[in-house]
Amino acid sequence: MILIGVIGSGAMGSGIAQVAATAGHEVLVFDSNAQALEKSKAGLEAVYLRLVEKQKISREAADLILKHIRFVSGLDEFKDCGLVIEAIVENLAVKQAVFAQLEGIVTADAILATNTSSLSITSIASACSKPERVMGIHFFNPAPLMPLVELIPGIATRAEVFFKAKDILGTWKKELVTAKDTPGFIVNRVARPFYGEAIRIYEEGFADFATIDWAMKELGGFKMGPFELMDMIGNDINYTVTETVWTQLFFDPRYKPSITQKRLFEAKRFGKKTGQGYYNYSGSEALPVPKKNNELGNDIFLRILCMLINEATEALHLKIATREDIDQAMTKGVNYPKGLLKWADEIGLGLVYKLVSHLHQEYGEDRYRPSILLKNMARTEQNFYQ
Ligand SMILES: NC(=O)c1ccc[n+]([C@@H]2O[C@H](COP(=O)([O-])OP(=O)(O)OC[C@H]3O[C@@H](n4cnc5c(N)ncnc54)[C@H](O)[C@@H]3O)[C@@H](O)[C@H]2O)c1
Repeated sequence: MILIGVIGSGAMGSGIAQVAATAGHEVLVFDSNAQALEKSKAGLEAVYLRLVEKQKISREAADLILKHIRFVSGLDEFKDCGLVIEAIVENLAVKQAVFAQLEGIVTADAILATNTSSLSITSIASACSKPERVMGIHFFNPAPLMPLVELIPGIATRAEVFFKAKDILGTWKKELVTAKDTPGFIVNRVARPFYGEAIRIYEEGFADFATIDWAMKELGGFKMGPFELMDMIGNDINYTVTETVWTQLFFDPRYKPSITQKRLFEAKRFGKKTGQGYYNYSGSEALPVPKKNNELGNDIFLRILCMLINEATEALHLKIATREDIDQAMTKGVNYPKGLLKWADEIGLGLVYKLVSHLHQEYGEDRYRPSILLKNMARTEQNFYQ
C-alpha cells in the first residue's frame, strides 16, 4: 500500500490522516507549527480511545492504526510518499510555495493533491513544474464522518493521475464525485442559496431565523435550518466561502454575500464556537420560538428549494458534474434529504421554473435569473431522470 503524506495537522489534516490510516495506509503528517502537530497527535489518540471504549474497534487495531500515523518534523521525510494531500491554511501563495517545495522532495510519480475549499486547483498546480500530477481531493468537515469527497482535476491534470487517485480513494469508504475546477466545486457552489436566500427572506422581514429554520426542517425535511447550520459551520467560514465564490465568479449577483452575515462576521459572532451567531448560545436568553404557520412555511421552503434547484441545474448545464454526482454531492456532503435534481422531478420542473422566473420578474435582479437549462427543460416538459 502506498505511503500517504498529509501536510497541515489542523481540523482537516488530522481527519484525513485518520481516514487514510483507518483504510490501512501508513501516513506521515507534517505541520509547520509543532504545537499543532502535538495537538493532532493527542487528538487522534483520544479519538481511537473513544472508538475502543465504544467497542467500535479493538485495542490492537487502534494501536496498529496509531502506529501507522507518524508525525514528522520536516517535509523532507515525504520522499517516499505516493500521494500527498495538503490541508494547510487557505492562502494561494502559501500553498503554491509548499507545492513547489514538495516537488523537489517526492519521486516523479507521486500524486500531489490539495484539500482547498475555494482556491483554483489550476492556480495551485501552476507553481509546479509538473502540474499534470496535481489535483484537488476535497474532503468535508469532519473528514472521518462526512462520506463525500470531491475529486477535481485541474486543467493540466493527466487522466491517469486522476484515475490512480480515484482508485486509492476508492478503498477509503468514501463517496466519490468528480467536479470541474470551478469556484466552490459542486457543494460549496450549489448550496449557496440555502444560506443566501434564507438571509434574504429574513432581511426583507418575511420571517425570523427560527421560523425559517423551522420551515426548512419541518416542511422541507432538512436536518438543520440554514441559520442553525451557518452558526454550526461558523459565520466566519461560511461568509468567507460565499465571498470567495462570488469574487471568483466575477461578482455574479447570484452569489452576492449579505450584509447581515458580514456584520455578524465583523462582530465575531461566528456562531456556536463564540457563543453567539444568529442565535445566542450562552444560555442567558430563551431560544426564539418559530411561527408555525404552514402557508408561510411552505412559501419559505419552496422559495429556497427552487433557488437551490436552479443552482443545481446551472451546475449541470455548465458541466461542473453529472446529474448523479450533483445529487450525490448534496446528499452526502451536506446531508440534504434528497438530491436536488431528483427533487426537481418530483415537484415538477414547470413549478420550479415558474417560481424562479416569478422572482426574477418581480425583483428585476439577476440574482434570480433562471438557468437556461431549467427554462428549456420546463418548456419541453422534461425530467432530469426518466
Ligand atoms: N475546515 C473546514 O470545514 C474545511 C473543509 C474542507 C476543506 N477545508 C480546507 O482544508 C484546508 C485546511 O483547513 P483546516 O480547517 O484544517 O485549517 P486549520 O487552521 O485547522 O489547519 C491548518 C494547519 O496548517 C498548518 N500550516 C499553515 N501553513 C503551513 C505550512 N506552510 N506548512 C505546513 N503546515 C502549515 C497550520 O499550522 C495549521 O495547523 C484549507 O485549505 C481549507 O480551505 C476546510
